[in-house]
Amino acid sequence: MGQNRMLWLLDALERDPRADAAIDKLTRSVRALPLGRARDALHGRWLGHPVHPLMVQVPIGSWMSAAVLDLWPGRTREAGLLVGVGMAAAGPAALAGAVDWAELHRQQTRVGLVHAVANTAAVGLYGASLLCRLTGRATAGRAYGFLGLTAVGLGGMLGGHLAYRQASGANHAEEVPHVVGEDWHRIGTVDEFPAGRPVRRAVDDVPVLVVRETGGTFHALADRCSHLAGPLSEGTVADGCVECPWHGSVFRLSDGWNVRGPATAPQPAFDTRVVDGHVEIRLRREDGTESADEDRTAGAPERAGKDEGHGHGN
Ligand code: FES
Repeated sequence: MGQNRMLWLLDALERDPRADAAIDKLTRSVRALPLGRARDALHGRWLGHPVHPLMVQVPIGSWMSAAVLDLWPGRTREAGLLVGVGMAAAGPAALAGAVDWAELHRQQTRVGLVHAVANTAAVGLYGASLLCRLTGRATAGRAYGFLGLTAVGLGGMLGGHLAYRQASGANHAEEVPHVVGEDWHRIGTVDEFPAGRPVRRAVDDVPVLVVRETGGTFHALADRCSHLAGPLSEGTVADGCVECPWHGSVFRLSDGWNVRGPATAPQPAFDTRVVDGHVEIRLRREDGTESADEDRTAGAPERAGKDEGHGHGN
């Protein structure tokens, strides 16, 4: 099946390594910014999903409105005000985008860099627009404004590709409650889980991180990190938490809470029990999420052999 030209270009951009050296330098610089706890706030951990898409509404909305006013005779002054509002809001939105961008996969950072360049160009063009308006050159101010809107439109299109096609801001653990059945799953004998060491198992094809505490308590979380699906079972376990090996998100073992970003969503957690020397786990459903069984009843296609998959997962 043929691919349209735009998609072909975007896929080619993902594969193009020419800016990789610059990307590496920039990501190091962004990670080194002394943001402290503000970094997680900029990721959107408090919101439960990335905050950058929310923040860009202000500049995009202001600039779009300015363009409409520029088409309306006698509204140049109001349009100039909106251009300024958009420029003031663009900085914080860009910072939030940058901290997200610095924790992405290579292909995502390539698209993200061009997204940022387009938006930076837009800010420059709107800066020129504002300057022209302030110095009485309204026609030039409008022209720069429309060029800025074109650039920000290109940036938005790339942002959409980054968010949806490349799933850069999605919760990569969202599907777990829809795939895992409601019942208990036997995942191995107790002695298969050395104390303090992360062990990987699977239930209903979903990888699960299992950790046995020194005192004998078992914890189980979905293994693929909600940030970008990193393998938590290859991470570091300490102080009742696990740190993702890919970008350092930290999740509490007892309930999957994301103690530290960049992950903005918690990990699905499992209840655990020991029956006849075997460890069993069952997905905890505190939020009323429908189970795989309920999803099937509601019309989701049934996976062949799913029900036979319960039990020892590895
Ligand atoms: S995949 Fe990025 S922090 Fe886990």
